[in-house]
Amino acid sequence: MSRNYRIGWLPGDGIGWEVCDAARIVLDAVGFSAEYVHGDIGWDYWCSEGDALPQRTIDVLHNVDAAMFGAITSKPVKAAEEELEAKLKCKGLVYRSPIVRMRQLLDLYICLRPIRAYPGNPANYKEGINLVVFRENTEDLYAGVEFFPVPQAVSDVLAVSSKNFAPFAQLSGDDYAISCKINTRKGSERIVRAAFDYAVKHGRKKVTCVDKANVVRATDGLFLEIFRTVASEYPSIQADNANIDAITMWLLKNPFNYDVLVAPNLYGDIVSDLCAQMVGGLGFGCSGNIGAKVAVFEPTHGSAPKYSGQQKVNPIATILAAKMMLEWLGETQKAAAVEGAVARIIAEGKVRTYDMGGTATTQQMASAIASAL
Ligand code: NAI
Ligand code: MG
Repeated sequence: MSRNYRIGWLPGDGIGWEVCDAARIVLDAVGFSAEYVHGDIGWDYWCSEGDALPQRTIDVLHNVDAAMFGAITSKPVKAAEEELEAKLKCKGLVYRSPIVRMRQLLDLYICLRPIRAYPGNPANYKEGINLVVFRENTEDLYAGVEFFPVPQAVSDVLAVSSKNFAPFAQLSGDDYAISCKINTRKGSERIVRAAFDYAVKHGRKKVTCVDKANVVRATDGLFLEIFRTVASEYPSIQADNANIDAITMWLLKNPFNYDVLVAPNLYGDIVSDLCAQMVGGLGFGCSGNIGAKVAVFEPTHGSAPKYSGQQKVNPIATILAAKMMLEWLGETQKAAAVEGAVARIIAEGKVRTYDMGGTATTQQMASAIASAL
């Protein structure tokens, strides 16, 4: 008998609800025993409360074994301000991505994205692709330290600390904007180590560091230096590095030259979307945000507003995210059963959503996978 888990359930908005409902059909069918605790997150809560990730949801996440998250809508600063309810306007509220905040607040420092071409998927770029991306999840250019307009104090510091900054010294605060790329030793080391530990545990041969250390010398230089130090502790695993721009080309040309990729936040985000497209697109991209205490699993796609409420999108990404959650909880047999059922339905080719060239609905795909268990 497996234990009864407490699972945070955060559908979000847009297609988030549909794909989460679909994943539930499969979790129930595989006999996963859980109490699901709902958490509010997303655009509606920004508009009505001025907070897309209310404190009550953070409290839920601190008190569950793991969580599933669907998708949310995010909009640029100006649109966010305009859509705030009248009573909240002009109160200095600033929109920040609730996903980035969730990752930082819960210290979900690993973003794990398995990239697997299931045989027979007509949307595969090539058959046989099987990669894993480890993306640093709490810092780098997504640290959230940004200035616009740039305060005089910041501008003064930059002017004295760098000769290269001289051309900017004449600018006034709202002539430019600054987003800080911040990479710590601790943050870099723990993601690199997670990638190597995973390679050892799963019989992977090689870990590739994705960076731009030749140009972005301070931050990426530190990341690469730490990568090389950690790599020397894992002599059985091959280690190399590639520039972020070059690897987008190499991945398309020779996807079989890569195995495990590890990258700072932004590069990891970019590379994992590219990889998702090589195995069928966003309808297949799943992701785990993993910390020491809790983990939140999600499809990598967003809220796809144009398809919201139509039962049209592919729920496989979210079903594979649920499979990752089962694995993380140690429910390895159930995880394997879900993955086997997904693989069978894809290979049979009878039930296909629009992105696979078919007409099946979100629910029909979920039910087919549930029946294949
Ligand atoms: P998106 O991922 O929502 O959708 C882009 C396109 O990908 C869709 O129009 C659709 O053609 C396809 N697609 C997405 N999910 C699919 C699925 N399950 N099955 C089949 N096809 C699928 O990205 P978009 O349109 O750039 O952003 C929409 C909203 O989502 C924005 O507000 C954005 O900020 C937000 N977003 C949220 C994310 C999250 O919640 N993790 C991630 C990315 C974007
Ligand atoms: Mg992304």
